[in-house]
Amino acid sequence: MVKIAVLGYGTVGSGVVRVLNTNHDNINTRAGQQIDIKYILDLRDFEGDPVQEKIVHDYDIILKDEEIKIVVEVMGGVEPAYTYVKSALEHGKSVCTSNKELVARHGAELLELAKKKQLNFLFEASVGGGIPIIRPLNNSLTADEITDIKGILNGTTNYILSKMSREGLDFDTALKDAQDRGYAERNPEADVEGFDACRKIAILSSLAYGMQVDFEDIQTEGITKITKEDIAYAKKLDAGIKLIGSSKKVDGDIYAFVAPMLLSNSHPLMGVNDVFNAIFVKGNVLGDVMFYGQGAGSLPTASAVVSDVVDAVKHMGTNIMSIWCTEKLELADIKQSENRYFVRVKGAGKEDSVKSAFGEVTFVVLDDKKDETAFLTDSIKECDFDSKIAAVGEVINCIRADF
Ligand code: HSE
Repeated sequence: MVKIAVLGYGTVGSGVVRVLNTNHDNINTRAGQQIDIKYILDLRDFEGDPVQEKIVHDYDIILKDEEIKIVVEVMGGVEPAYTYVKSALEHGKSVCTSNKELVARHGAELLELAKKKQLNFLFEASVGGGIPIIRPLNNSLTADEITDIKGILNGTTNYILSKMSREGLDFDTALKDAQDRGYAERNPEADVEGFDACRKIAILSSLAYGMQVDFEDIQTEGITKITKEDIAYAKKLDAGIKLIGSSKKVDGDIYAFVAPMLLSNSHPLMGVNDVFNAIFVKGNVLGDVMFYGQGAGSLPTASAVVSDVVDAVKHMGTNIMSIWCTEKLELADIKQSENRYFVRVKGAGKEDSVKSAFGEVTFVVLDDKKDETAFLTDSIKECDFDSKIAAVGEVINCIRADF
């Protein structure tokens, strides 16, 4: 029997208890041993809840109990999670976490510590909730050089954009609906400004390229400036708008960003709607693969956490190797990356100045938007785009496009 402790009895922590209760026979068979929760650390008491007898308020009880072999950290945030996780590893306990802030900031260091101690630091649930993506990158796509990762990594913003597109709503109305349904937080900044997706693409890039990608280095744009008019234009181009976390290897340089993008309706990521996530990965010999599923929520996220617990049990005493090391990966200057751009500029009849700046472009017209000129450029370097657009006029909005 393996005894584990769960740090945090919130949405994910209670999911972990439910998953272990619901599927215990199957889980124990796959782990080869019985997995038993001995402690749950939380500030609250949960009177009347069957887990009440396992609740402790003092982390030292868990740390000092040599019977505890695995600590499940599902508290979120960098502190005190970092201190707890580091000391768990130092005390000879493997760690499974869903905490993307912790993994993005300290993943390389904690992986190194786990390796030194012949333990495991596992974080399948930190990206894409219940979607298996960390283990495939670490263990399955090992024959390939990963050249491109493109994902819908945030369920809240995908719900908002899907709602805006389906019902012609503006951003504020769709955000309020997402909040009413409990998808978006009362303070939705981390989701709608792209910070959550930024941490997730930093984790995926670090795993794919084997070095530390600092999330602070990733250019990040959210969806707050996307309007229903932008979406109406996209539809005219047989396209839609998605918040994309992207990292791409071009001639040995890695470019990474989070931004809204116009995607053609034929792109596989355009079939990913509402709170679902998907991650599209390109390998140099495999070609394209896509991982799709529920990117958030108590049970899907807990399913990924428990799968890590099973892996930790199966690899007790051995470290599952990861190539993610502490050496920093210097990202290439995003201004040197090439993209197509969908642009709206103030003023009608700007076609000639657009063509003299950008050459042949695709113009798009909305019947109720006569006072502006909208167009889709060919592929162009971001720095060249910046200098050329200044000559055309005042920009209303500008969105990268992947056609
Ligand atoms: N706020 C996140 C989302 C939760 O909406 O995707 C899962 O990380």
